[in-house]
Amino acid sequence: MGGDAARVKARILSDGGLRAAFAALFGDPAPMAAEDVLVAAGKAMAAYQETLVSPPTPFDRFRDALAAGRDDPAYPAAARRGLKLFVGRGRCSLCHFGPLFSNGEFADAAIPYFVPGGVDWGRYGGIQFLRASPFNLLGRHNDDAGGDSDFKTRHLKLEHRNFGEFKVPPLRGVADSAPYMHDGSLATLTDVARHYSDLDLERLHVDGEAILRPCT
Ligand code: HEC
Repeated sequence: MGGDAARVKARILSDGGLRAAFAALFGDPAPMAAEDVLVAAGKAMAAYQETLVSPPTPFDRFRDALAAGRDDPAYPAAARRGLKLFVGRGRCSLCHFGPLFSNGEFADAAIPYFVPGGVDWGRYGGIQFLRASPFNLLGRHNDDAGGDSDFKTRHLKLEHRNFGEFKVPPLRGVADSAPYMHDGSLATLTDVARHYSDLDLERLHVDGEAILRPCT
């Protein structure tokens, strides 16, 4: 981590444009500790990312038409069948819903956790990493001193069920973002549909998701 911070600081110092843009927001980076430069750059990038808006999709147009009491004849029959499964028998919309098709939570979608060289712990490892990180919301880099933005971090519990959980990803424009799952192990959306349809119930925790079930 120290190496990353030093590299980011060196990169900003060596680029006149970047250095001036940084200085305009946070002051001259030269005398700052490398960790503070890294954090400031990270906050600037996060603020930029929050301005990004994904373009309208055929589904948005279909949804808008329905909300206005119309049909959208351009929306294909196969997509309508898929949508019925998505909100119906497939139970997909229990986790993937809202404008981003994500509940913003973590869940176990039964992706195998054995990876070359070991085990992928998912959120179980993620929570331990977060707690140990100097960049978490309990640390000195949180701008909301005295506020309650650290509430969730403070009350986060490590539970057995977190093993194999991953963040429920948004699905906007998902057709253009192959490969799929956190490890990129599923190459196409057909593979994803097959994965959910042939679900390995042995792999899902008994105390984990009671939502997903294979297609019978
Ligand atoms: C219990 C909550 C839950 C349900 C129900 C669920 N998903 Fe997911 N979905 C997830 C999680 C968690 C991931 C990320 C898994 C990973 O990265 O290993 C995911 C990943 C995906 C992805 C990959 C997105 C990407 O960018 O990599 C697609 C596509 C997807 N789900 C579609 C579906 C479909 C279709 C259904 C219904 C058959 C469904 N999901 C039901 C939680 C759920």
